[in-house]
Amino acid sequence: MLHLNTVIVLEQEEELDTVIEVSKKLGVRPIIGARAKLRTKHSGHFGSTSGEKGKFGLTTVQILRVVKKLQQHDMLDCMQLLHFHIGSQIPSTSLLADGVGEAAQIYCELVRLGACMKVIDIGGGLGIDYDGSKSQDSDISVGYSLQDYASAVVQAVRAICDSKGVKHPVICSESGRAIVSHHSVLVFEAVSTSSSSCGPLQTSSLGFQHFVERLTDDALADYRNFSAAAISRDYDTCLLYAEQLKQRCVEQFKEGSLGMEQLAAVDSLCELISRAIGVSDPVRTYHVNLSIFTSVPDFWGIGQLFPIIPIHKLEERPAVRGVLSDLTCDSDGKIDKFIGGESSLPLHELQGNGGLDVDGGAYYLGMFLGGAYEEALGGVHNLFGGPSVLRVSQSDGPQSFAVNTAIPGPSCGDVLRMMQHEPELMFQTLKHRIEEFSDDGGSISSLALLNGLACSLNKMPYLAAGATCSLTAAAAGNSGYYYCNDDNYAAAADSVAAEEEQWSYCVA
Ligand SMILES: Cc1ncc(COP(=O)(O)O)c(C=O)c1O
Repeated sequence: MLHLNTVIVLEQEEELDTVIEVSKKLGVRPIIGARAKLRTKHSGHFGSTSGEKGKFGLTTVQILRVVKKLQQHDMLDCMQLLHFHIGSQIPSTSLLADGVGEAAQIYCELVRLGACMKVIDIGGGLGIDYDGSKSQDSDISVGYSLQDYASAVVQAVRAICDSKGVKHPVICSESGRAIVSHHSVLVFEAVSTSSSSCGPLQTSSLGFQHFVERLTDDALADYRNFSAAAISRDYDTCLLYAEQLKQRCVEQFKEGSLGMEQLAAVDSLCELISRAIGVSDPVRTYHVNLSIFTSVPDFWGIGQLFPIIPIHKLEERPAVRGVLSDLTCDSDGKIDKFIGGESSLPLHELQGNGGLDVDGGAYYLGMFLGGAYEEALGGVHNLFGGPSVLRVSQSDGPQSFAVNTAIPGPSCGDVLRMMQHEPELMFQTLKHRIEEFSDDGGSISSLALLNGLACSLNKMPYLAAGATCSLTAAAAGNSGYYYCNDDNYAAAADSVAAEEEQWSYCVA
């Protein structure tokens, strides 16, 4: 009825019984394919499911049993397609040709056995060169182009079919990664930075005299050795004693015989020396408004690297280096490995305190090639839902692109609902509490509190500058929720009806 040419591809031998039974019942002759478990093993990370002991497909023995059973049921002509999938991110055309050649031999054997073969489906595996290195030895690169890939497949199939005198099949592919990787760019904001060195205290406030008085004999000896090394400008020895002194001071602090000022003084001393001899760690931590677990799960899960670059200030040379730390409380929520074997990224100084500072310029970064399959994999770890999505298409206009749709990411209320909580009930409970404990039940402050509460349930769980709810869809039917906008923080029950999402974006 739908006029679709459907092929039922057998993944397991038992499935054939169902196909035979149902097709007889319906009085149709199905088109059947078989997924073969190839012996060719893909060497990279994504090849763990391939080879003789691979996860998917039928073995040679099973394929032969399928052929026999189809013959018994007079249905061998229904067998028309051979499918296989070597694995994702196939690193080289030699491996590809090897696997396709093996599959082509199976195809020709099926023809010899009487199957009415027409199609060979080469599965996915067309890789992406994430780091641009064109390397065959890396999980994040491939050493071929689309043209090389296609030629390797066609040549391998043609050579085998010609040698066996078999008619060339239709070749189809199921590339996933190669089709969707480029479709999405994750744009995220760096909101603040910190460095491992937080700047020494002013020398005048170090209070060394007071500091020295409270040191133990061992610590005092370290301090004297440190001073002697400093006078003779032997800064390496200086740093050695400073670090030793620091350890002793930490012990003293833990015992309670040293105050915070003294501990800060010794930290500052170490930092001053490190700076003087140029060994202080220059790498900053950029705090990014993002969850790695939600938006870059493959970095966390399998160490996959994606190209990340600033998309602001491109006319300025980046002057500092940084790693990225996300909003989650998880210590794994950081990106400190980048393409090209780098452990930090060249970045620009943030103005003010980045996007969180109203006066500071926003600083956005982009993560590219994440279309396969980061968005689909991401969960709600730490209750961060997915990011807001802009659908952008090419257009003939002056900017060559158009923003078609803006879809806000899940609000705090949405995320709570996903975790089986009831935000409406939570809101009502808190509302009653506010009414019960406020002086007159209707004071401005209790209304403002209610609005703030409603606003935070309607807002996304990510950081937002100021009190803006502008990324928030005022969910229709969310009765009891208030909706606030930037200018007016007062109750505005009417605006709940405002179904238009408020979006502002800049055109590049
Ligand atoms: C059967 C099959 N076909 C196609 C694909 C897509 O693979 P890729 O993303 O490497 O192109 C997969 C992915 O796992 C698969 O299992």
